[in-house]
Amino acid sequence: MLRMAGKVALITGAGAGMGRAHAVRLAEEGADIIALDVAEGALAESAMMVRAHGRRVVTAVADVCDLAAVEAGVGTGVAELGRLDTIVANAGVTENPGPSWTIDENLWERSMAVNLTGVWHTVKAGVAALGPGGGSVIIISSTAGIKAVAGASHYTAAKHAVVGLARTLANELGPRSIRVNTVHPGAVDTAMTINPATFARLRPDLAAPTADDVAQVLSRNHLLPVPWVEAVDVSNAVLFLASDEARYITGLQMVVDAGLTQKVG
Ligand SMILES: NC(=O)c1ccc[n+]([C@@H]2O[C@H](COP(=O)([O-])OP(=O)(O)OC[C@H]3O[C@@H](n4cnc5c(N)ncnc54)[C@H](O)[C@@H]3O)[C@@H](O)[C@H]2O)c1
Repeated sequence: MLRMAGKVALITGAGAGMGRAHAVRLAEEGADIIALDVAEGALAESAMMVRAHGRRVVTAVADVCDLAAVEAGVGTGVAELGRLDTIVANAGVTENPGPSWTIDENLWERSMAVNLTGVWHTVKAGVAALGPGGGSVIIISSTAGIKAVAGASHYTAAKHAVVGLARTLANELGPRSIRVNTVHPGAVDTAMTINPATFARLRPDLAAPTADDVAQVLSRNHLLPVPWVEAVDVSNAVLFLASDEARYITGLQMVVDAGLTQKVG
């Protein structure tokens, strides 16, 4: 029996990176997908990957900052696919602008709009469609939602804030058998981390650092001897929390970080 058979999952930021990985992994286990993203071409590619697993998919170009657009995308998806069981609030953005007091106001507001308010919009748009049998809300935070990331307080603050949102939602939605959990990835092999700007920040000693050059630096942050986790490792955590295997798990902060948050020294 597939672990998501008969279920429909809404995923934001589904056009690339982890959002795409969640869509494909949940589809492999039998879920139909409502996929939202700002990037139309990437979204179409993700949709093809979901269909390759024989599942249905409804896509919507929607910025999570725009509540009306998210509501419209969710409404179309639920009308077409007939139900909603899982909400994965995944869309997020980050940079490493520097000390808190130097962060540009627009950058700060943008981080709050996407990483915090966008999550709230996603839940707000989706919760009413979760059926009488309950459901699972999964909010993608970060290890930056557990410990500080110097130079990125706009991101750290938003990723901590969604934990408060999730805890509150878990209390509010528990009586409806809706579980609410956060997932906290460490470094992941997506464009958000594997990019030239990150390489340059982590290896200022090199003129043109590569992924291999930063791998040593990132590995030192971990208990396990790996530089980053793969997107599918996070998707497997999302799958578990979405599935009935996690039927009594709510209010959890599930860390997928190769030991980053537990490393001493
Ligand atoms: N990559 C990492 O190392 C890492 C670590 C911890 C947490 N995270 C979190 O995981 C989530 C996914 O990150 P990723 O690595 O897949 O990022 P990514 O940059 O690879 O992909 C993000 C996707 O979200 C979409 N998106 C961005 N802003 C959007 C918006 N306003 N509305 C709708 N879609 C939007 C992008 O178009 C893209 O398709 C984010 O919440 C991120 O903060 C990432």
